[in-house]
Amino acid sequence: MKGLILSGGSGTRLRPLTHTRAKQLLPIVGAPILHHILDSLEVAGIRETVILISPETGDLVRESCGSSWGSMNLEYVVQDQPLGLAHAVATARPLLGDDPFLLFLGDNVLKGGIKKYADEFHSKNMESMVLLSKVDKPQQFGVAIFEGEKLVGMIEKPKNPPSDLALVGIYFFNNKIHKIIENLKPSNRGEYEITDAIQGLIDDSVKVHHMRVDGWWKDTGLPEDLIEANKLLLEDVQTKVDGVVSGGRITGKVIVEKGAKIENSYIEGPVYIGKNSIVKNSNISAGTSIGKNCRINTVDIGNSIIMDNCILSAVSYPMSNCLIGEGCTVKGNIDTRLNVVLGDRSVLEVPD
Ligand code: G1P
Repeated sequence: MKGLILSGGSGTRLRPLTHTRAKQLLPIVGAPILHHILDSLEVAGIRETVILISPETGDLVRESCGSSWGSMNLEYVVQDQPLGLAHAVATARPLLGDDPFLLFLGDNVLKGGIKKYADEFHSKNMESMVLLSKVDKPQQFGVAIFEGEKLVGMIEKPKNPPSDLALVGIYFFNNKIHKIIENLKPSNRGEYEITDAIQGLIDDSVKVHHMRVDGWWKDTGLPEDLIEANKLLLEDVQTKVDGVVSGGRITGKVIVEKGAKIENSYIEGPVYIGKNSIVKNSNISAGTSIGKNCRINTVDIGNSIIMDNCILSAVSYPMSNCLIGEGCTVKGNIDTRLNVVLGDRSVLEVPD
């Protein structure tokens, strides 16, 4: 089985961070989402993966992932126009050949990875399989339609959802999907929908299997989703302290990478602190990831993502639910609780 990861799209809902990078390269727990996905494909035994990129951010994705990932070979294909997920599959078709494949939307994160679902698809010799997850707002997803236990259809972003089971952005197909996509018509929003293609399989009497995911799943379309995905992924880390800790106290699960220094600070895990970052006189609480080479001094922060090379200094009020881009400075007597999204190299500073 091959992998196909979609890493195009413009990520408009994650601006300004997506003005300077692909949304799939936003970090959670110290690494881009895309790297977490590549890890999970490799663990599932996939040895060849195609990454679909856009003309705008494709080079950044190539640079970040390279031509191989562990024992997995990586190839890239450019989708010139964002015409939908089924169009993306058609674009990658020359590289997929007639092999069965796993389609993984590059902004999805799933607890525990995909190995057990991939094993099920293989061992039962299935033609296609979708993953489903119960959600609060099914209107925002592709939604499964059931008759009793039987999956009989699916509908993209319905106003009146027939169930609360959303299609997770991870799908398993054999080559029958290609014929259906060749004859697909665009939807009302002008896109070739993968949901319509799967409906086409069902209408052609191809058995579409389904599995419910048994842990959490996040589609990281919005800043709050990214912060939540970071928190959920942190809950599964194992403590690892390769940096130097002096004074203060560490509780809960914490990763402190090599070269990092924690001085006179309270760290209440789960927390991730990246390589060569220095944290002094601060409180870092649960759900926070700090990137590489940051300087954090006299700050109280929780449930946030701080990307690489940031300076956070003497911020007088606590910060929470923040998403701070690379190379930002936040400093001074900011006399309100901070809950912000900052694009790369932003400065938020109140002089004394
Ligand atoms: C896409 C699919 C939708 C699916 C979702 C999962 O939506 O069209 O069926 O439920 O991914 O992440 P999008 O996130 O592109 O709006």
